[in-house]
Amino acid sequence: MAKGVALVTGGGRRIGAEIVRSLIRADWYVLIHVRSSKDDALELLADEQTHSAEQPAGEVLVADLSTDEGLADLIEGAKRVISEQNAQGLGVLVHNASIYTTKDYESVSLEELRLNIRIHLEVPFLLTQGLTAQLKTGSGCVIGMIDTSLGRAWDGLSHYTSTKAGLRQLMMNLAGDLAPDVRVNCVAPGAVLAADWEAEHFASVIERVPLGRGGAPEDVAKAVMFLTESAYLSGQVINVDGGWSVAP
Ligand SMILES: NC(=O)c1ccc[n+]([C@@H]2O[C@H](COP(=O)([O-])OP(=O)(O)OC[C@H]3O[C@@H](n4cnc5c(N)ncnc54)[C@H](OP(=O)(O)O)[C@@H]3O)[C@@H](O)[C@H]2O)c1
Repeated sequence: MAKGVALVTGGGRRIGAEIVRSLIRADWYVLIHVRSSKDDALELLADEQTHSAEQPAGEVLVADLSTDEGLADLIEGAKRVISEQNAQGLGVLVHNASIYTTKDYESVSLEELRLNIRIHLEVPFLLTQGLTAQLKTGSGCVIGMIDTSLGRAWDGLSHYTSTKAGLRQLMMNLAGDLAPDVRVNCVAPGAVLAADWEAEHFASVIERVPLGRGGAPEDVAKAVMFLTESAYLSGQVINVDGGWSVAP
């Protein structure tokens, strides 16, 4: 019998997939939410099946979270799976889904701003709210995936950094609102996996990382697992950035 049910948004590839893999290996039954990476998620599940004999390692839920219907489907799908698995509520919820594009501040459209607010703030707010009863029953652990941009000016990223700051504050507030039943924390990766458009900038960042390398998805997943296993940690942010945020 698995430890319980965990849900990871945007879990089909990149860092999300590594978090899913770690949760499965720690014996969680993982709901892998995806928008377009269904095939990657199914491949991951098939791969991990070999690690856990006959018991399924989890399942895939497809939803476009930019729409209200997509979000409602995800909430309903999670409730259904929790009930089908006879699970004691929801044990882990990782808000990992994200968008990351660069655009000069003066040319960010209202539509782009709203999509960032939607994915980084509205969805984590409403998804946590929609599953609060299940999180309380499961003594759940909620983790917001943010980044290390807080308090600094980043070229062409105002729409991204301001909405991730909103997610950070939402998680800190919920650490109070949902206590004592549910713990809420954040993981803030530094330079881990570059987006296609930022290879050059990424290389210059890595030169300034005290530990001398970019992070690996496994480094981020370890911090997530640490939070899931640390029963007395709530309202914290773990920077997984090789010391970058304190570099001179
Ligand atoms: N990569 C880094 O170095 C880095 C640095 C700092 C912080 N972070 C944070 O760490 C987390 C993981 O990073 P990442 O680079 O692996 O993330 P990512 O590739 O930018 O995005 C993760 C997933 O979000 C999903 N997503 C995007 N729009 C969606 C929508 N409308 N509806 C549903 N899902 C949607 C996508 O799922 P599909 O593929 O299924 O479409 C995507 O695979 C993110 O929260 C990110 O902000 C990453």
